Amino acid sequence: VDVEKIRNFSIVAHVDHGKSTLADRLLELTGVKKPGDEQSQVLDQLQVEKERGITVKAVTATLDYTYNNETYLLNLIDTPGHVDFSNEVVRSVTACQGVIMLVDANEGIQAQTVAVHSLAKRNNLVIIPTLNKVDLPRANPDKVKEQLQSVFKIDPNTVLSISAKKGWGVRELLEAVIMRIPPPKVVLDDHFSAHIIDTWHDKYRGVLCLAYITSGTVKVGQAVKWQSDSKLQTVKHLALLRPTEEPIDEAIAGQVVMVGCGPKGGGSVGDQLVAKELANASERLSAPAVKHMVYAGIFPADQSQHILLSDAIKKLALNDSAVSVTIDSSPALGQGWRIGFLGLLHLDVFTQRLLQEHKAEAILTAPSVPYKVKIKGAKLIKHYKTDEILITNPLQLPDPNNVVEYFEPFVKGTIITPVEYIGAVTSLCIDRRGTPLPSSAVDDTMTMLQFILPLSEIVVDFHDTLKSITSGFASFDYEDDGFHSSSLVRMDILINGMLVDELSTIVHASRLEYNARRLAEKLKEMIPRQMVQVAIQAVVGGKVLARETIKAYRKDVTAKLYGGDVTRRKKLLKQQAEGKKKMRSVANIKIPRDTFIDVLKK
Ligand code: GTP
Repeated sequence: VDVEKIRNFSIVAHVDHGKSTLADRLLELTGVKKPGDEQSQVLDQLQVEKERGITVKAVTATLDYTYNNETYLLNLIDTPGHVDFSNEVVRSVTACQGVIMLVDANEGIQAQTVAVHSLAKRNNLVIIPTLNKVDLPRANPDKVKEQLQSVFKIDPNTVLSISAKKGWGVRELLEAVIMRIPPPKVVLDDHFSAHIIDTWHDKYRGVLCLAYITSGTVKVGQAVKWQSDSKLQTVKHLALLRPTEEPIDEAIAGQVVMVGCGPKGGGSVGDQLVAKELANASERLSAPAVKHMVYAGIFPADQSQHILLSDAIKKLALNDSAVSVTIDSSPALGQGWRIGFLGLLHLDVFTQRLLQEHKAEAILTAPSVPYKVKIKGAKLIKHYKTDEILITNPLQLPDPNNVVEYFEPFVKGTIITPVEYIGAVTSLCIDRRGTPLPSSAVDDTMTMLQFILPLSEIVVDFHDTLKSITSGFASFDYEDDGFHSSSLVRMDILINGMLVDELSTIVHASRLEYNARRLAEKLKEMIPRQMVQVAIQAVVGGKVLARETIKAYRKDVTAKLYGGDVTRRKKLLKQQAEGKKKMRSVANIKIPRDTFIDVLKK
């Protein structure tokens, strides 16, 4: 292998712009896959990915391509497209020198195109702007080229046009990869070292790693060590992923290969595998910090499923290093877990995999975001080195008298919308406590709006609302904007004077009255009538902000057991699993388990 003939690249695009289809074509063109092969989209391996058509876990393929009588080794590093998985995207780009940025020639630039473009720019990658789906009758390549020029200052002459579906222009694109993307900048003449960009588990061989070799060469049988613990290891498995394994004896700097050090050999993302001769001093490449932006409780639908669910969560967490798992328990829902996710889609995919791959039935609580508080006098916090603490559960919020300042996570949201919806989109964002940034025209019909928004305002139903007010035409994506100072309050719910832990929430001060009223009303709807009167109070710091009363049965009332709309109630009942019907008793009042799960969802 000659380093000058290596190209490491990935394909980035907005959802559905054709990344997987293009990857398939590249595999066919390089002989890995026969055209018309049954198993389409080899790169999308997981079942969830197949069903939802989104790529979750990064998979890599090494391709051979002969150009001008020279054989090139092309490493296509598949990156998951969605914002939630940016952790994996960031990891993958550390091994790349360039990207193919796909844009649907029919849809044009979407919010996620903006996000992936800025990621590529930040990492100094060569961008090959490529229009896809030019076979569609409504494709308008010229218009999209103008968009690329006005939004990203891309010279229209450098834009390629392809149809991944029909295979048009794909050969030219591969040649552009060879011509425009530089070979990796690595040191061959040195001790071996490699960055781990992904890991997965094999039943017999232990942890297998996807490694980007940054210097030297590596051979099967070679003595190596992990930077993190300096323990000696032996390289047991070395392979190219095509994308199925092709064992090799040796690999050189610049290559992206699979490495395994046996069942006890270990390996984790962000670590470095190095030659045993290398001094220990070399610092560990810090893995892009995993930021859990959304937390949710997961409970077994039935406590008899606890062990099954526990096993399933453990297995999934091994495969998905981006989740955090802690034990949680609740009087209403039993023993469960509190899980931290990168975002809502991540949460969704995780629970779906839980059900599909592990046949575990789970109940999810409403998602919440983490907050930070700065505490008066650091001595108050024994276990923390700083005076700032992270709050992932409303019950952890300290007494306001001990708090200097509150912080909540914000994001920079990008929305690309047809101009006729600018007004509606702007009011939605302002309503969600958003601050507008300067907007810019994408073309004469589309505009790019940007807002700084609190994450808590978008985790629940922002995307759906945006889609519905724009008839599905707007696209949305966000980047982390860090924690901003905020004014937060803990709101509690009392049922006949008793505090119900599970219903406490952290609310922005400006939203207190509204949230108190809404929550009390919703609870009134969801809690069935009882033999005694039920008083529901939303309370902040001892002050009642809203109250609702559910009257006791009168003697002659037998038919209507539930308050609220009967047909809606029936529908709810039909949807819910057997286990969810259980009741929790608070002050002798029976509250259906569903209440705890549904009341905090918008
Ligand atoms: P994510 O994995 O969700 O990011 O999607 P993707 O970007 O991988 O998109 P995918 O390749 O799954 O393509 C989305 C849809 O567009 C599929 O129905 C494809 O068949 C279709 N498609 C992809 N490329 C073309 C093309 O060149 N022409 C036409 N007409 N359709 C295409």
